[in-house]
Amino acid sequence: MEVDRLQNTHFLLKHIWKSNFSAPIEQLLDSCVNGKGACVLDIGCGPGTWVLEMASEYPDAEFIGIDISPVYPSEIKPPKATFYEHNVLRRLPTIPDNTVDYVHMRSMMAAFTEIEWTEIVLPELIRVLKPGGWIELCELDMQFCNPGPSGQRLSDAAIAFFAANDINGLIAAKLSSFLSETHQLRKIKQEERCSPCGEWGGKVGQLVAKDNIDAYIGLKTYLSDFMGATHEEYDKILKSFADEMNNYRTSHKSYRIYAQKFWPNTTTTTTSTTP
Ligand SMILES: C[S@@+](CC[C@H](N)C(=O)[O-])C[C@H]1O[C@@H](n2cnc3c(N)ncnc32)[C@H](O)[C@@H]1O
Repeated sequence: MEVDRLQNTHFLLKHIWKSNFSAPIEQLLDSCVNGKGACVLDIGCGPGTWVLEMASEYPDAEFIGIDISPVYPSEIKPPKATFYEHNVLRRLPTIPDNTVDYVHMRSMMAAFTEIEWTEIVLPELIRVLKPGGWIELCELDMQFCNPGPSGQRLSDAAIAFFAANDINGLIAAKLSSFLSETHQLRKIKQEERCSPCGEWGGKVGQLVAKDNIDAYIGLKTYLSDFMGATHEEYDKILKSFADEMNNYRTSHKSYRIYAQKFWPNTTTTTTSTTP
């Protein structure tokens, strides 16, 4: 069920952002020098949907998807797409310094504590990046915009539940500062998109609503306990969340943050845009 949900989320995010990435890497992905294209990593690749699409669109580049859990395809894949099983918290020992052109990481908010983000994961992704290479992060906020009472109750409970496990459900808005604080990146840019959640937003709104409801169904065992609710009570809250979205015109925010690794002796710039 989670793999299906991740695939739906991939196509939704692609539709909302009108692309699979925001960093200015189009030329890099099309480049090929002495038969060798760009090297791209997707960390926490899940079922590999992003890698498979990107490797088909940019056949010269080499794509490597890495996940702690081997839910990615093992056989049917484009020639330059490979996957391997690995826990990124153990760093990336097989990948030398300064060898990757582009690192992509999406929807990993619940995978790391804040300390792990700042002390292990981001430094490691920057270590493997070539000077001039790009890093891109994409995350969804756990808090809804304009939630009704049930939506607020669910997201408050989820944020508190994750916080009790040292995970920050609102980390997306902090990522550009984390990148800036590494002092190894320039041209740091944060972009945001608000997508409607509920029928009021047409077909996309319906799919965003389904995506969120499926995520909360997936969390039921943990969250109902945490909220002191029976499974039946939890289902009622979820139903009322679905019913109230249109009245409140609930929406959901996603972020893309990208930056380029310094060449020695260059300086940092940060910009933010909300179209
Ligand atoms: C919410 S999914 C996102 C999947 C994919 N990035 C996408 O956007 O469809 C999070 C993924 O991170 C993986 N993951 C969690 N912790 C990890 C770790 N420490 N190292 C590598 N992968 C990890 C999970 O197995 C899961 O596939």
